[in-house]
Amino acid sequence: MSPSDLPGREDPPINLDDYATRARAILQADQYDYFAGGSEDEVTLRGNRAAFEQIWLRPRVLVDVSACDTTTTVLGLPLRFPVMVAPMSVHGMAHPVAEAGTAAAARDAGSLIVASTLSNLPLEAIASAADRRCWFQLYIYTDRAATERLVRRAEVAGYRALVLTVDTPLLGTRERDLRHRFQLPAHLRFGNFLDEATGGQLGGPRAPLTWSDLAWLRTLTTLPIVLKGILTAEDARLAVEHGAAGIVVSNHGGRQLDGALPSIRALPAIADAVARRCEIYLDGGVRRGTDVLKAVALGARAVLVGRPLLWGLAVTGEAGARDVLRLLESELRLAMRLAGLPYIAAIDRAAVVVDPTWTAS
Ligand code: FNR
Repeated sequence: MSPSDLPGREDPPINLDDYATRARAILQADQYDYFAGGSEDEVTLRGNRAAFEQIWLRPRVLVDVSACDTTTTVLGLPLRFPVMVAPMSVHGMAHPVAEAGTAAAARDAGSLIVASTLSNLPLEAIASAADRRCWFQLYIYTDRAATERLVRRAEVAGYRALVLTVDTPLLGTRERDLRHRFQLPAHLRFGNFLDEATGGQLGGPRAPLTWSDLAWLRTLTTLPIVLKGILTAEDARLAVEHGAAGIVVSNHGGRQLDGALPSIRALPAIADAVARRCEIYLDGGVRRGTDVLKAVALGARAVLVGRPLLWGLAVTGEAGARDVLRLLESELRLAMRLAGLPYIAAIDRAAVVVDPTWTAS
């Protein structure tokens, strides 16, 4: 056994992929695959990453990059850099600290966590760990009264926006889960439903939504509403017309419709259609500071990062999640300085070259 094989003597992870590799070695195979997998052939899952490699940066030189300012805002809330934590179910399967660790990491990084309806901890505990740097991701259930109770709780707990996920009328087929006959570990509960008849075991059937349900939600709350899971210019325009404060360009991390556009590829046409009438965010395959730079160049105000936060959590709990965000921030700072774009407003489409067919998506 060489010294590097001894527990605790591994080199620290130096990028987000290192965290994925470590997490894979730590987690049970079925649990790792639940987090990592996509639907069917995982074409969209791979496409999310591959599409970033089809965008080239156009660095400007002889710009004063002695300082670099990565700060921005999302719906008025300041972010230290344009990265948020994507809503993901059951962080407790990655580490016992669960969403409290991810939320505290987001708070310390000057980021923001979008808490999933399907969290293990109740939404109140997540808001408090995040110091209210949080938005609440909502699934609408056929039980409208239960849905309304969730919205009220989110308001009272101090969430600053509702993120309505619109790409999940049904669940995509995740074949890795089928092969493993995956089931959530029996000790984990859905923390937002502990006092429902289901005893925290079941989120209840989700309602298939239409645009009119958005009008219903708007009558319930004055919180800004963000629609998550938009991939076309047509739907982006409808979102604006229906009063969305923001949209997340997303294919659910390749877990829903396999073959759907890579989200970064969908972004330019959506940015054109929205024409600054609401804020645009993007998720799916963001793993590097340069990915953040590319997304901002193509019209995203900020990005959301999903799986890498679970990997950080699995490896070293809250500290790992914090380190994932720190790595992304430092990569982004370096990328902005090397590109001659030392503040966010300097980043525009001139910073990148994309295949001309993309804008026609
Ligand atoms: C998700 N995602 C998700 N989205 C949502 O709106 N509500 C949810 O409860 C979940 N749950 C969830 C669990 C797991 C394990 C994953 C990987 C993803 C989708 C998530 O918010 C986001 O769209 C993608 O994960 C972003 O892609 P990357 O960064 O993981 O590639």
